[in-house]
Amino acid sequence: MQLPPEWTAIVFETIGSTNDEALRRAEAGAPEGTVIVSRQQEGGRGRRGRTWTSPPGNAYSSTIIRPRCVPERAAQLGFVTALAVCDAAAAGLPGERAIRLKWPNDVLVDGAKISGILLESAMAADGSVEHVVIGTGINVAVPPPAGVATYAAACLHDLGDRRDAPEVLHAYLAALAVRLAQWRQGFDGTRADWLARAAWLGERVAVSQGEIRIEGRFAGLDADGALLLEPSDGPPRRIVSGEVFRPVG
Ligand code: BTN
Repeated sequence: MQLPPEWTAIVFETIGSTNDEALRRAEAGAPEGTVIVSRQQEGGRGRRGRTWTSPPGNAYSSTIIRPRCVPERAAQLGFVTALAVCDAAAAGLPGERAIRLKWPNDVLVDGAKISGILLESAMAADGSVEHVVIGTGINVAVPPPAGVATYAAACLHDLGDRRDAPEVLHAYLAALAVRLAQWRQGFDGTRADWLARAAWLGERVAVSQGEIRIEGRFAGLDADGALLLEPSDGPPRRIVSGEVFRPVG
């Protein structure tokens, strides 16, 4: 696989989780740009402790980054990664497909989720982020099994993309290198590009945080990436975690 200069891919046929392997290697001193790739995963992990079903045909990777920044800034890497997936998807999908980004880091094509992003990090003794593992699963040829996903989901092949998993993975890693370089200049460019592709910007959304659910107008992103929500009956809120969806009715 051709990678950005200075990056190294370690490719597995089968693995438990590429994130687990990348976290182990980061802990052992693997340099930034080490990418763990596997054709399938037997223990793929999603956000909130969920399982990420990982059959052959899709693209699974975990990239080690050593940002040495504060945790709030490292959290912006979710936007960076979503933009890279978006760039990679746009390069292979027919032009009429609508690619949108759902806060914080989901990529939707015609309203269906085509990828998952799991960022995991470790702190240095000085309180900075020592390393981040950017785990990405892109549904290339196989959508999630029926009944598993609690949201609309799809794979790139069903949406008209003819590339195979290695081709999509290569496009994604090349885009990730470009998006990381943009982010290193500051968050403004990443923020503006993310907002230009944001799903439901200016519209009414609901945010669930465990048992709590808040509704309001999605007014934008704060300077650090927090979602700005304007409830109809209260002051504007900064949302730093939660799941965003369209309220029914
Ligand atoms: C989500 O729940 O949306 C995030 C899913 C992240 C899945 C990817 S696949 C590659 C990497 N290895 C894992 O075990 N998880 C991430």
